Parts: sequence; structure tokens; C-alpha cells
Amino acid sequence: MRKPAPSARDSARAWDEAAAGWEAQTPHIRAWLAEATAEMLDMADVRPGMRVLDLAAGAGDQSCDAARRVGCDGGVLATDVSPRMVAAAAARLRSAGHGNARCMVADCGALGLDGANFDAAICRLGLMLLPDPLRGLRSVRRALRPGGRFCAMVFSEPGANVCVDIVVSIVARRAGLPAGDRYRPGSLLSLGEPGLIEDLLGSAGFVDITVRRKRVTLGMASLGDYLAFIRTAAAPVMGMLEMMGDAARRAAWAEVEEALSPFSGADRWEAPTELLLAAGAR
Ligand SMILES: C[S@@+](CC[C@H](N)C(=O)[O-])C[C@H]1O[C@@H](n2cnc3c(N)ncnc32)[C@H](O)[C@@H]1O
Repeated sequence: MRKPAPSARDSARAWDEAAAGWEAQTPHIRAWLAEATAEMLDMADVRPGMRVLDLAAGAGDQSCDAARRVGCDGGVLATDVSPRMVAAAAARLRSAGHGNARCMVADCGALGLDGANFDAAICRLGLMLLPDPLRGLRSVRRALRPGGRFCAMVFSEPGANVCVDIVVSIVARRAGLPAGDRYRPGSLLSLGEPGLIEDLLGSAGFVDITVRRKRVTLGMASLGDYLAFIRTAAAPVMGMLEMMGDAARRAAWAEVEEALSPFSGADRWEAPTELLLAAGAR
């Protein structure tokens, strides 16, 4: 049985459940992704005075970086399918004093922003979650001005993201889903298939396509902290866990914990991750 890719409605519901967790984990997410985020903004050519569209913005961490970069003469529109994520992003942008940013609930696959003429667009760890990423890419391209650039950050291959792969494959197998189907549309690793994101950007009509790999260490004080991150903030895994009974869920966690324990050092838990930064111009 192949698990169907989640619809926008399913995603909104699942990520609403994870929104408080994602928001609470933002300091860890920031420590992990800040440098790659700056590179994503560079590859989207985000500069002062620009109008930037942020897709699947989550709790708005990277929206704040974009708002800081464009300054008061520019603007950011942070969008997400989950109303609770949008509320979290709005609160974060407000408390950081970014009056140049707005937020909107929107499904990446049907943005409804055709002809909006954004100068640039970004999507951090969201594009791979779409059931139809090509549809999403076409939708964002239509929101850009001619020449405007888009950059997405996604995970690369499973072998370079073992701490993600271990969790997803163990939990999927325990939930009765095919663990070998790592590139299943809508799954966390779906766009890590070699060459896929380049092809999708080209098929959507983007030109001047560049894809860079970026290795970053995901570090937490302990394995327990990483498990708490997954348990409270990783909606795709939380969804699979919900499909199980209590005993199966406990067994899945025990197996995950054992498989991830080799990444524990003397005073920290650290695992390698690898991201793809994939950019193109309209
Ligand atoms: C892994 S989180 C990343 C959030 C944020 N970009 C970050 O890096 O902190 C994925 C986000 O994608 C959003 N998302 C999932 N499916 C979506 C869709 N179809 N349209 C828009 N957002 C979506 C979720 O609500 C969630 O906020």
C-alpha cells in the first residue's frame, strides 16, 4: 500500500497540530539552518527594497531574515497552509518589529498570486511536502516578476540525512507503510532523488537553474531533545504515529531511539544533514 500524498486540507490539519511544537523548537531550527538560510536568500537574490514571497513559512524564522534584508523600503509576504503557523509567523514578525511583513494563509499549490510581480520568492523545507511540487513551482513562478528569482531548501538523499531517514523509515514500517518508498510525493525526503528538483524547476519554466548542496550538522543537547523535536514538531512523522496503537507506537520509539543512539557524543547528540538549495529565475 502506498500512502497517498496529503491534500492541502490534510496538511493544514497536520501542521496546525505541530505549530506550537515547531514554534517552540525555533531556537534549535535557527541554530541548524541560519547559515543555509542566508545562502538561500543570496541565491534568490534578495536585496534591500525588494518584495519577497515566503512559501510554507511556518513560524516565520526565515521570514524575519528576509524582512531584515529587504528593510523598510521592501516587504515580505509570509504564507503557509496552516492557520496556526501563520498566526505564529505573524506574532514572530510583529515582536521582531518587522512592520514591512504581512502574513496570509495559502496553499503553495494554489497561491492565487498570479501577476503579483514579487521580486523574489523563497521556500525553506516546504516544497518537498507538496503532493504535486510541479504545480507549486508553476504557481510561485506566476507570482514572480520576469527575471525574479526563487530558491527552495529541501533535504538531499536519504543516505546524507540518516537521522531523518531512520525516523521516517522505522515509523513508516511500523505503521504498515512501505519504508522503502523514500521518494514518495509529499514525504520529507521526496525531493532528494538525484536530479529531480532541477527537472521540476525546468518543467515549471524556470531558467538559470542552480542547485547547491549544503552539509549542516543538526545538534541537540541530547537524543531525548531530538526525539522531542520529532514528537512535537515533525507533522509527517506525527501523522504516521497517530495511525498506530499505543504498543506499536512505544515499540517504534524504542527502535528509533536505539537506531539514533550512535549519534550521541560525550555531551551532545549530533547528526549530519544535507540540504539542496535549488534556485531559478522566471
Ligand atoms: C518543515 S515546516 C517548515 C517551516 C518553515 N519554512 C521553516 O523552515 O521553519 C513545513 C511547513 O510547510 C507548510 N506546508 C505544508 N504543506 C503546505 C502547502 N500545501 N502549502 C503551504 N504550506 C504548506 C506547513 O504548514 C509547515 O509550516
